[in-house]
Amino acid sequence: MLGHKVNGLGPSQICIEKYDRLIQNGGMKQLIEQATQYLKGKIRNTPIELSPTLSKLLGQPIYLKLECLQTTGSFKLRGAIFYLSTLNPEEKNRGVAAVSAGNHGLGIAYAARKQRIPCTIFVPKNVDQSKYDQLIELGAHVQKSAFAGYDDTLEWSKGEARKLQIPIIPAYDDEKIMAANGGTIAVEVLTEVPEATHFILPMGGGGLSGGFAYHVKSKNPDAYMTVCQLAASPVFQSSLEQGKAITHMPAVDTLAGGIEGGLGEKCFEVLKTRVDGIAHLSEDEIKEALCWTLRHHRYLIEPSSAIAIAACLFGHAHPKGPTVIVVSGRNVSYSTLRDLIIHK
Ligand SMILES: Cc1ncc(COP(=O)(O)O)c(C=O)c1O
Repeated sequence: MLGHKVNGLGPSQICIEKYDRLIQNGGMKQLIEQATQYLKGKIRNTPIELSPTLSKLLGQPIYLKLECLQTTGSFKLRGAIFYLSTLNPEEKNRGVAAVSAGNHGLGIAYAARKQRIPCTIFVPKNVDQSKYDQLIELGAHVQKSAFAGYDDTLEWSKGEARKLQIPIIPAYDDEKIMAANGGTIAVEVLTEVPEATHFILPMGGGGLSGGFAYHVKSKNPDAYMTVCQLAASPVFQSSLEQGKAITHMPAVDTLAGGIEGGLGEKCFEVLKTRVDGIAHLSEDEIKEALCWTLRHHRYLIEPSSAIAIAACLFGHAHPKGPTVIVVSGRNVSYSTLRDLIIHK
């Protein structure tokens, strides 16, 4: 539980209220509605399933929102399709770029192909091989950076995109991305499991959890939001302690590339008063949870996504009522999966 949850009026509250007005008027609420309408028929409304084993273990009904079954293998397709739909014809002709450990790039490459927009994806040098191969198959122009982490790759690709004179589509720190990635999932979750009171999500830059928390808390301020981060990259906790978003983190050696690195500034403004609990997980716990999901549910999920299951399996989240875990993606290479299973 976070000790500093702001309910009264402090200096940070004044700031968030200003930002809240901005995103209300701009506005985040309308963007979530627009994205929900726009995405109908263009993406899968992914299933939500009860997990009998987790429910038994935790003594509450625990549901899995299976966004791992989304086209392109993750929720990132939502933001990509919606964002590209807002570009004008001249911008579409010029083309777009994205910087991605994989899933955002896959979403952009897929959406760009559908809308006939040329696209370049900049990836860290240690990008998962399955994601790299899929990007190529989707027809994207892929450029590997000389860096292992997302943040360093982002810095390098800013110069590359400038040379190509194309904009970089943000992976998380943007209202449209937050609204489409997290907001539209929250709409589906609350429609199907209206009794849910606790939500557990992975957090990287904060786009998924930002949009999700915004919608859920606007419908039920008492809902409980747990976000899950790598113990080796606890950027949300550190940002709360410093009172501002830490946007750049040193790269860490992890299979969960989607959730390492810095936090978005806009995401932090949304999240800092809407998160109730943070779970920090080790690499071993994440690997264990990935294998557990395969064994108990027969679903293949990727490490960045397994972190939310790990939070439940290893006692870092304590659901007090019906709970939904967002299972955010499935893109893990065959060789990584084989190594994980062999070493079990
Ligand atoms: C599978 C998966 N889950 C979760 C996340 C975290 O999303 P966000 O960066 O919006 O917090 C990512 C980010 O790439 C991801 O690929």
